[in-house]
Amino acid sequence: MTKQNIDWGNLGFNYIRTDKSYVSDYRNGSWDEGHLTPEHTITMSECACVLQYSQSVFEGLKAYTTEDGRIVTFRPDLNASRMASSAAWLEMPAFPEDRFIDAVLRVVRANESWVPPYGSGATMYLRPFEFGINSVIGVKPADDYQFRILTTPVGPYFKGGAKPVTLKIADFDRAAPRGTGHIKAGLNYAMSLHAIQQAHREGFNENLYPDSATRTKVEETGGANIIFIRDNKFITVASPSILPSITRRSLEYIAEHYLGMEVEEREIPLEELSEFEEAGLCGTAAVISPVGKIVDHGREICFPSGMEKMGPKTQKLYDTLTGIQMGRIEAPEGWIYEV
Ligand code: PLP
Ligand code: COI
Repeated sequence: MTKQNIDWGNLGFNYIRTDKSYVSDYRNGSWDEGHLTPEHTITMSECACVLQYSQSVFEGLKAYTTEDGRIVTFRPDLNASRMASSAAWLEMPAFPEDRFIDAVLRVVRANESWVPPYGSGATMYLRPFEFGINSVIGVKPADDYQFRILTTPVGPYFKGGAKPVTLKIADFDRAAPRGTGHIKAGLNYAMSLHAIQQAHREGFNENLYPDSATRTKVEETGGANIIFIRDNKFITVASPSILPSITRRSLEYIAEHYLGMEVEEREIPLEELSEFEEAGLCGTAAVISPVGKIVDHGREICFPSGMEKMGPKTQKLYDTLTGIQMGRIEAPEGWIYEV
């Protein structure tokens, strides 16, 4: 297989069109058989539900080239089930979970030349998404939907790769207590756009949102969960209004079963931030991006791991996770799907 002529090592996290996307339409109450398409634009009514009322949900997962040259994906079954929950929350029909996995494997296979080579530092990002496509003017769910998966080769989510990032305790709220913070819907990201541009203008990499009800507890950033290390403990947030990150759930398992750490998933008061030794953002796009500093309205929390490199325990978690994804370390049963 000849790979595309791309400078893989210098890719950012940007969209590059590949050969094929997967598409399936939902009409008259059922999904069609689905197909691969070379068409990367979509034509729809100006009054489509997604355009007027943002009825859209999505997922993110990656395909990797392993050390021995296979192409694999990581836990797509969990993306399938999370997307079904997201869809249900927005009154959309779920794309069947077994078909989701099959479509992931098919679309990666069709774009094999775009899957970055082992050791290049890049990976292939897959973006499954579903949206209401027919015209709706009164506020109600659509009747017809489209499910697609686009693929694009990507580099690190944060410029500078493994350099620690600086977070700002957000001035805005991300998710209401009984709202949509726990699902992956476009609307959660639309509301974050002003907040992230504001944070960038002030020189921060991302916002760390506190809980909306009391603004005293840590939740997550706009695009990743947050993890902390203290002593031999791996500490993460328990909250009904954060996205249940597949990376974070995987790291909890890795911390306990591969690295012999104690795992705590619990509420984390903002006041406790200064007691942690290391911090990181975790997600499909972020992988584990180390956090060097958090600024809470003038109060600076600088982690002892510093602004130059990942803390030592974060590094072990990163090496084990990516080792499993790239086939250097044996994966737990069922985590790796070969393409
Ligand atoms: N939290 C938010 C808000 C996200 O957008 C993402 C990205 O998917 C995550 C967390 C990480 O989730 P995952 O590890 O499943 O990619
Ligand atoms: C992902 O990690 O897959 C996401 O969807 C996060 C997004 C901010 C790119």
